[in-house]
Amino acid sequence: MSATGQARAVTPRQVVAAKGGTPLVCLTAYTTPMARLVDTHCDIALVGDSVGMVLHGLPSTLGVTLDMMIMHGKAVRRGLEHALMVVDLPFGFYEESPEQAFRNASRMMAETGCGAVKLEGGETMAETIRFLTGRGIPVMAHVGLTPQGVNTFGGYTVQGRGKDRDRVLADARAVADAGAFAVVLEKVPEALARRITEEIAIPTIGIGASAACDGQVLVADDMLGMFTDFRPKFVKRYAELGAEASSAIEAYAADVRARRFPAEEHVFGETPKAAPKGDTK
Ligand code: KIV
Repeated sequence: MSATGQARAVTPRQVVAAKGGTPLVCLTAYTTPMARLVDTHCDIALVGDSVGMVLHGLPSTLGVTLDMMIMHGKAVRRGLEHALMVVDLPFGFYEESPEQAFRNASRMMAETGCGAVKLEGGETMAETIRFLTGRGIPVMAHVGLTPQGVNTFGGYTVQGRGKDRDRVLADARAVADAGAFAVVLEKVPEALARRITEEIAIPTIGIGASAACDGQVLVADDMLGMFTDFRPKFVKRYAELGAEASSAIEAYAADVRARRFPAEEHVFGETPKAAPKGDTK
């Protein structure tokens, strides 16, 4: 049973109602096949701007554009029936003013069919969150480590330690008061994540923020072990797909060079034989 307990598409309201119950499950998806996999098991599919680093090889999320997010959003939409689809607003497309945020978020919703947008920032974004939610755009907020602020943070460091705790706490309170339906807490200490989760009325979705949160999110490619050289502490690897894919490609290359592939069963003769199941060509 999922946290929202729904067979039909999950709504932001159901996400709010799941607070304090079975933890909400969220993973990123950027493509239709991954969306199908996520949809079977998760409550929320996040088209994260991490797509820029994960699929496009960018050094940070700062180079991601609205058009990129819309393209991946459309692909993910085709793979979802159940999960709530949330799409990130990319850096530079919402911070200038609430009006800019509304223009781009409404385009995102109209063109991708997403159920909500996510944006980074706490107190400074509260007015924008209020503007969007008051005009029909559900918003998932994101506080703590906000990767679009990597240059002001000076790296992807844990946020909210020591005196900095009050800032992150104020950010979480501000986005909840402004009408966000959930908030991602990224890379904050466990005690702070617990306090925020207890204090605010909306679900906290943790990434590197402990099991004290109301739900969890990870980048799917990270938990599937797609990158052999990227092992953040907060990611549990449930598979080693990167290593497995590398072995498969190595075996293919060896077969081609040794003329073992294609073999007889992969070759077409003059007269058709019974095609294997699934072969439509
Ligand atoms: O872009 C992203 O994938 C995210 C999650 C890691 C929370 O924001």
